[in-house]
Amino acid sequence: MDVHVGCEPRSRRKRAAHSLASEETPRLIDEATGAVRPPFAPCLAAYYARRFELFSRYDAGVRVDATGWFSVTPEQIAIAHAATCAAPAGVAIDAFAGVGGNTVHLAERCAHVIAVEIDAGRAELLAHNLRVYGISRRVDVLVGSFYELARGLRADTLFLSPPWGGPGYRRDRAFDVEAQMSPPLSAALELARTHRIARRCVAFLPRNSDRKRIASLARAGESCSFRAEVDARGRPCALTAVFDFEMVVGQDGTR
Ligand SMILES: C[S@@+](CC[C@H](N)C(=O)[O-])C[C@H]1O[C@@H](n2cnc3c(N)ncnc32)[C@H](O)[C@@H]1O
Repeated sequence: MDVHVGCEPRSRRKRAAHSLASEETPRLIDEATGAVRPPFAPCLAAYYARRFELFSRYDAGVRVDATGWFSVTPEQIAIAHAATCAAPAGVAIDAFAGVGGNTVHLAERCAHVIAVEIDAGRAELLAHNLRVYGISRRVDVLVGSFYELARGLRADTLFLSPPWGGPGYRRDRAFDVEAQMSPPLSAALELARTHRIARRCVAFLPRNSDRKRIASLARAGESCSFRAEVDARGRPCALTAVFDFEMVVGQDGTR
């Protein structure tokens, strides 16, 4: 049996794996077949319990690794992101695609999606999940770093769901997307401008992100707007920032 316990401290891994067989984790055992169901690590059970909030088609065969469970965008939010990025005849780039929580919905609202994922194993899960959702023909999966591949890419919208650096962000009153993200948010924005990758950039960020700091990254003539995202229980859970790089044209034609 494959045991994924990568999120446990090393000292606790043995105990975590052992507890699979104990009565502490009965919800991970399929009652009908007795099979151990993913995720195998007890620390992921809370995410597994919410699996249909993450992927409504989870039971059709969606596959998720430990990092994927922690980082996948809840489906209702991914659908809203896709509406913001919608381009029926256009292209979106999902620069940090993970296991595909956003990619599957971007592909439903755009003619084509370029999905970039640096981890080869996760990229395989992504490709599998695209097949589960029946939209793999509209998606190119690129394995590599977005920062290295970016200059060769073109799209209408660049979608960013970068790593937030773990759950530590929750402790801070205000999360600084420049100081606390590595690379900082401005690195992707700068690439988008310099290489004319896209006219618009949509970034999915921690709920406590400092909005003034984010807005300060917009240059003269660009616009930056925000949408607070809520979870299935209506609680604020994240922030979406939308940068429009094209000059904003006023009603009278001025810029
Ligand atoms: C927050 S997760 C994305 C989750 C995704 N939106 C979803 O719903 O499944 C961030 C992902 O970016 C990947 N990543 C990190 N650095 C990257 C880079 N430089 N280029 C491309 N992918 C990267 C990580 O491996 C991880 O899977």
